[in-house]
Amino acid sequence: MKILVTGGAGYIGSHTCVALLNQGWEVVVVDNLSNSSELSLQRVESITGKHLTFHRTDLLDRKSLTAVFKDHAHQPFDAVIHFAGKKAVGESVEIPLAYFHNNITGTLVLLEVMDEFSVKNIVFSSSATVYGNPATLPIREDFPLSVTNPYGRTKLMIEEILKDLYLSDNSWNIALLRYFNPVGAHESGLIGEDPNGIPNNLVPYITQVAVGKLDKVNVFGNDYNTPDGTGVRDYIHVSDLAAGHIKTIPKLLTNPGVVTYNLGTGRGNSVLEMIAGFQRVCKKDIPFVISPRRAGDIAACWADPSKAEKALGWRAEKSLDDMCRDSWKWQKNNPNGYQ
Ligand code: NAD
Ligand code: WQD
Repeated sequence: MKILVTGGAGYIGSHTCVALLNQGWEVVVVDNLSNSSELSLQRVESITGKHLTFHRTDLLDRKSLTAVFKDHAHQPFDAVIHFAGKKAVGESVEIPLAYFHNNITGTLVLLEVMDEFSVKNIVFSSSATVYGNPATLPIREDFPLSVTNPYGRTKLMIEEILKDLYLSDNSWNIALLRYFNPVGAHESGLIGEDPNGIPNNLVPYITQVAVGKLDKVNVFGNDYNTPDGTGVRDYIHVSDLAAGHIKTIPKLLTNPGVVTYNLGTGRGNSVLEMIAGFQRVCKKDIPFVISPRRAGDIAACWADPSKAEKALGWRAEKSLDDMCRDSWKWQKNNPNGYQ
């Protein structure tokens, strides 16, 4: 099996490359390194003891992307896993056009080039953000979809583009994977999440407090309708998420058309439970203060992952302590990320 991974140098992409190489599959990465470092790919190779091919290519650069497909035309890709995209919700509100251009146009160019080379199997990184504020929990794939920010809109629009593409040509096979909250790192501590500047997401913020780079965690609201009043999310270990992609590829090759799966654990944890988890694992006090709610946040969100379990034979295996331990090992061993 030969897989093209867009955005493969990034957080989820690098962990998926490890899993793909461990399957014995051939991996080709395209990434413009706009939010990542090539070092992550070198570390993927040292973790697995296997080689991958890297092209520093922007999806927006049609000529270069076409050249990558030409380069590999003697043995075409069996499937593409499409991670490449910008992902910061707050930034997307400030610079929406950059998000639409990069995420939507980048995907359109990719799909057109795939079409040209008759590579028609794709796994797309979608997000639980497409469910908006769900009326009930847990969230099933057939729940209504709505988004509240440009980042989320790019995910929903790409899902719709892919569905229209299939309607026009049913030789495409498309998996829409809706990730819940990916956290954790490879157990080696060699690869992990490397946010730019002050992290927006809870777990990298907590680990930066634990390592002494930040003073305290701001808990965004303790007056939600949840057991302890703080926001509840379905945190999933990034290696479990990577394994979900491995199970999805053979499914695509059975010509399923368009399939949609939640990748989550089915459990929700609060902000305070996450802080307590890290205190347990790091054996450090993690100071926090209660701050006002963050605009756009919902109270609670967790997946019903049973569809993926039935169809793919996949389920998340790792515990909250595994997530905390591995995030902490990565942060402790790499206080400045890949720099
Ligand atoms: P990331 O930023 O670490 O990885 C994305 C990669 O894409 C980066 O290496 C970046 O350099 C590359 N990239 C961006 N634009 C590109 C372009 N035009 N051409 C080539 N490469 C480009 O993000 P991640 O956390 O690994 O997320 C991967 C995917 O999963 C994204 O599509 C994201 O929206 C989606 N997702 C992430 C989360 C999350 O919380 N991390 C949750 C749900 C969905
Ligand atoms: C988790 C919880 C916060 C930071 C985001 C995107 C979503 C998806 C995953 C890509 C919430 C609270 C956070 C902090 C806090 N990404 N929090 N203090 O918002 O669930 O999801 O990342 O698709 O689209 O919106 O994740 O980690 O930012 O927040 O109290 O400093 O932690 O209020 O309850 P979120 P998060």
